[in-house]
Amino acid sequence: GSNKRRKTEAVPAEDSDNTSDYSTDESDVEETTTNQEDVVETQEVENPQSLSTKTEKVEKEVPKPHPSDAPRVPTVNVPVERLPEVQEQRLKLPILAEEQIIMEAINENPVVVLCGETGSGKTTQVPQFLYEAGYALNGHQICVTEPRRVAAISMSKRVAYEMNLSQREVSYQIRYEGNLSADTKIKFMTDGVLLKEVQKDFLLSKYRVVIIDEAHERSIFSDILLGLLSRIVPLRHKRGNPLKLVIMSATLRVEDFTANAHLFKVTPPVIKVESRQFPVSIHFNKHTREDYLGEAYKKVCKIHRKLPDGGILVFVTGQQEVHTLCARLKKMFPSKNQDYGEFLSFVSRLFSDPSEGRKRRRKQSETEKVTLPKISLDSYSVLPADEEADSQLDTLDSDTEETMTGVDYDSDDDDDDVINSSDQPLYILPMFSLLPSNKQQLVFDPPPEGSRLCVISTNVSETSLTIPNIKYVVDTGKVKSKFYDKVTGVSAFRVTWTSAAAANQRAGRAGRTGPGHCYRLFSSAVFTDFEKFSPPEICQRPVDDLMLLMKDMSIDKVVNFPFPTPPDIEALKAAENLLIHLGALQPAKQKARSKETELHTVITPLGRAMASFPVAPRYGKMLSLGQQHKLLPYVVAMVAGLSVQEVFIEAERRGTEEGEMKHAKVKLQAMRKTWAGKGHSMQLGDLMVLLKAIGASEFEGLTPAFCEKYGLRFKAMVEIRKLRAQLTNTVNSVLADAEISVDPKMAPPTDLQAKLLQQIVLSGLADHVARKLPEPAKGTDDAKKLKYAYQSICLDDPVFIHPTSVLYKSDAEYIVYQSVEDASKLYMKGISAIQAEWLPIFAPSRCNFSKPLEHPAPRYQLSSGKVLCHSTSTCGPHGWQIPEVEME
Ligand code: CDP
Ligand code: MG
Repeated sequence: GSNKRRKTEAVPAEDSDNTSDYSTDESDVEETTTNQEDVVETQEVENPQSLSTKTEKVEKEVPKPHPSDAPRVPTVNVPVERLPEVQEQRLKLPILAEEQIIMEAINENPVVVLCGETGSGKTTQVPQFLYEAGYALNGHQICVTEPRRVAAISMSKRVAYEMNLSQREVSYQIRYEGNLSADTKIKFMTDGVLLKEVQKDFLLSKYRVVIIDEAHERSIFSDILLGLLSRIVPLRHKRGNPLKLVIMSATLRVEDFTANAHLFKVTPPVIKVESRQFPVSIHFNKHTREDYLGEAYKKVCKIHRKLPDGGILVFVTGQQEVHTLCARLKKMFPSKNQDYGEFLSFVSRLFSDPSEGRKRRRKQSETEKVTLPKISLDSYSVLPADEEADSQLDTLDSDTEETMTGVDYDSDDDDDDVINSSDQPLYILPMFSLLPSNKQQLVFDPPPEGSRLCVISTNVSETSLTIPNIKYVVDTGKVKSKFYDKVTGVSAFRVTWTSAAAANQRAGRAGRTGPGHCYRLFSSAVFTDFEKFSPPEICQRPVDDLMLLMKDMSIDKVVNFPFPTPPDIEALKAAENLLIHLGALQPAKQKARSKETELHTVITPLGRAMASFPVAPRYGKMLSLGQQHKLLPYVVAMVAGLSVQEVFIEAERRGTEEGEMKHAKVKLQAMRKTWAGKGHSMQLGDLMVLLKAIGASEFEGLTPAFCEKYGLRFKAMVEIRKLRAQLTNTVNSVLADAEISVDPKMAPPTDLQAKLLQQIVLSGLADHVARKLPEPAKGTDDAKKLKYAYQSICLDDPVFIHPTSVLYKSDAEYIVYQSVEDASKLYMKGISAIQAEWLPIFAPSRCNFSKPLEHPAPRYQLSSGKVLCHSTSTCGPHGWQIPEVEME
């Protein structure tokens, strides 16, 4: 059917995608917890001797293998016929020299940690070592998990190429697609996929070795996998069928894995792979200025005009800043090669600030150069930087007296109005995770003959990818992340200082192919206050999905789970609370002696159904209720849309011409209002617009032009299409009697269906109900401040409908919202109107009744006590019922 066709259809946007399975897109934010290399607590590199002592120690603690295990330690050598050029390349990798040590450690220990700088060859080589040692014999597979889809795909291709095998043998599996075959020997997959496999086969019996790659990223799923594997490995050992676990990390900060008594009973040995890293000189600014983007601009101009050849890599915080800085630099260094679209001409106009062009002459020294003490730079040593660049720099800083090596870039601050004095063109490229892959690819290709490469990037270039020939790194020291309130779930984007580990990783990017320089746009005093490491993802976001997943795996006491870093107890409690309200969990009978603080709940049948969908629990609930009244196709589409973030792009972001911007905004809003329609359709609000966008795209054709016209993000829409296909299949196999057509074309919902959909939405968002506050008295202070204000069920402060919502300034009294963001006000997004009478049915635990259901006196003071449906007969497997509208 058409569904099959869709699944095999190549979607080029996919492979630039950084999101791991289950997670959703974030258009302007990059991963925040990327690298955690510790430069201060650098361990001594393990030499073979120290390793073998460690290994000996471990052997004493591990029970001697059962005699039947002995033949399982592979002694074979499975031949691989590599191309000569591949073999030549491989031999240059430092990890090749360590093959024997690595394989001995793996053979002799159940768990091994392998550390090495990005590019040392861990991902591409270790699976090959294991293959050659026979770990893929007898129908077993070698499993490698990656936190990113793009890595799973590209690494499987690379390893297949290196081994001269096809993708039938070296395959990948990601959320929506894969190329597994009966011959698959090495399987690259996202960590979310392996987690699903654990749910089906707890012992992972297909595998004799599991590699958790990029463990330093501390993605939420790889953290959970490590917790699960810490129990699976000993279990497999007991059963005489040992499973090996290899944890690979780009950083030395592995104490969370090794020195965590909850995780591994026996401390796993750590093998450090040396990597070729050239010295990088680190230069701090003397002063830390607010306008880091302006500072970055100036620094790039100076490097380009004064310093010898070599690529420049600039770290900024988000997609918008990448665009802004690119545009500004392109204005300064125009080049015929660069067609960056109308967007940039628009953005560059944002900089037509009159103060920009003025000449500023400041003689004061602004930059200090610090040579870091030896302890801190394990992999990029503190040897003097390459002399060529140093001597060049020294000629610049005639008026620095403090240090001989001091540099004063600001003494000739005239970039803003001086045309590039060197003839060399600057080849400026953007880089961020949601950039289409063909544009991402440009940074890997050599720049046009005679030009200098300058990449403006978010922290995606910190560890995830290595851009060739970077000699200068300009680091703003900033990172943008989404913060959640642990209890209320209110999110806010904040730009903060990054961690010391991340800053050092950024610096290291300058020393990949030769000695380099890192210019930090902040002072060394500021740097000493940096956090050492970025926090793991599990401590940074709500954990309701994780809680449900664990309960579904019968891990009842989630607090006792061996997390590498446990999430905050408040966050766990909030998650459990939400799941109780959603009906997914119910309090278990407390043992008399159990402490009150202990969380103890068990999963309900509804919870099991919710857990079977790869979406957030609240959306899983909507799906579980959707098979009534033929609503499922709509619920599936809506949930797919709700699970992907940043579907709508606002007019400002689209690079519309300045004068037309307001017009474009009005036009977009009008188009959305048309989609919302009238009656219940209109009341379903933003979710109806989402549904219409998805529905229309299947008729009109999902093209970039279509998305441009309706203010939709193309990649988000492609993601929704794939998720919709996946959910359709899941729903058809999980829910009894559900038979949704796999044809993505569907008629718009009727008004009655729209009304039922409002109720479905309420059932999943019952904790996100808000009621309009009374109109404040005219002339008072509050009159303006509290106009159109709402009171949310879970927040003290008033909340407001975001101006982009189709229900903005509407008269809806009760609404539900998808999320609240703390911007200038607390803004609700993804709004649907609801009716007060539905609350006792869909949010009973949020209402206070004086008598059960008959006389509702909820805290919302329902406008009418009338309840649409009193029927206690159940409908569907969970006893949840959607009231018939006709009963009104
Ligand atoms: O995993 P790790 O960061 O330690 O290194 P890797 O991904 O195994 O890469 C080892 C080497 O292979 C790198 O130096 C890359 O230059 C090279 N490589 C490549 O040429 N093409 C790829 N698609 C992947 C890696
Ligand atoms: Mg790797």
